[in-house]
Amino acid sequence: MLGEQKICFSGVQPSGNLTIGNYLGAIRNFSTFSEAYKCFYCVVDEHAITVRQTPADLRRRTYETLALYMACGLDPEKNTLYVQSHVPAHAELSWILNCYTMFGELSRMTQFKDKSSKHADNVNAGLFTYPVLMASDILLYQTDVVPVGIDQKQHVELCRNIAERFNQVFPDTFTVPEPIIPQNGKKIMSLADPTKKMSKSDENQNAIVYILDDRDTIIRKFRRAVTDSDTVVRFAEGKDGINNLMTIYSCFTGKDMEEIEREFAGRGYGDFKLAVGEVTADALAPVQARYRELLADKAGLEAQMKKGAEEAAYYARKTLSKVQKKLGFVQIR
Ligand code: TYM
Repeated sequence: MLGEQKICFSGVQPSGNLTIGNYLGAIRNFSTFSEAYKCFYCVVDEHAITVRQTPADLRRRTYETLALYMACGLDPEKNTLYVQSHVPAHAELSWILNCYTMFGELSRMTQFKDKSSKHADNVNAGLFTYPVLMASDILLYQTDVVPVGIDQKQHVELCRNIAERFNQVFPDTFTVPEPIIPQNGKKIMSLADPTKKMSKSDENQNAIVYILDDRDTIIRKFRRAVTDSDTVVRFAEGKDGINNLMTIYSCFTGKDMEEIEREFAGRGYGDFKLAVGEVTADALAPVQARYRELLADKAGLEAQMKKGAEEAAYYARKTLSKVQKKLGFVQIR
């Protein structure tokens, strides 16, 4: 809470082209909070460098992610949209919270275990303390709700533990946030291996549908999606591929699983896959058109970054000063 206002915070890493997993699990839902909450949506470039990035790509994707936020319906007049490295308080609070986070807690984070095995040649300290920076993002704004996909739930829970631990020593410092995870779309799976999450860093391009893929590519990728040897479109245990496609279809059409089963009764997987491709392409077309317009205006995006950073920094400084004062850091003005 900031005064009387409830706060919503979330972030996306500019570490790759964004997928329909990012869209359905997170970004699409962001605008639903804009009326009832004061919302901060951050492009978390500092998180992205925990794995090696090519500087020119990181720079380009930072613009692209901001443009996508806006193309997905986030009005910069109603939401604070900004880039993490433009607000130094994130990194400053992160150092402090590192001293209130236990080594054992961080060792249990499944994302750390996954990423450190994937990037075995670069298991850097930032990869390990990544969730502390994420906790700082959230706690700096006295956040009440954090809309995320299910893969981030463990990090938000760690953030709650850090906030509670800090509040025990220094009462009433942080609001303890709740993760908000969508019922439908919380974990979109890979099209090539539907037992794995769809991830923007997957090397297999057929596993991923990007928000910016063109219509033909979207339809082709769904046509190739791995399913099973059954032929009935039915949501059931063991049918991971079909369950995933039904989830995607449901997210884009608003139909529930029973309606989808009825719609495709007596029709094969081929028909169904084509329909999933078509509804996905139809839903993404307006986002892509708006995105192209926004991206063409680089100066406009930069002005937006500046405005967002100023707004965010104002609130972030308030929490950081409060924390520093409580800790006993000398304040000079
Ligand atoms: P990131 O950049 O990996 O993903 C951004 C958002 O997309 C969701 N997501 C998915 N949802 C459903 N199905 C999928 N296959 C899928 N893949 C990704 C993620 O859950 C996330 O909500 N650590 C965060 C970024 C972050 C953050 C924060 C989030 C940094 N600070 C503070 C919330 C609050 C991350 O790596 O997300």
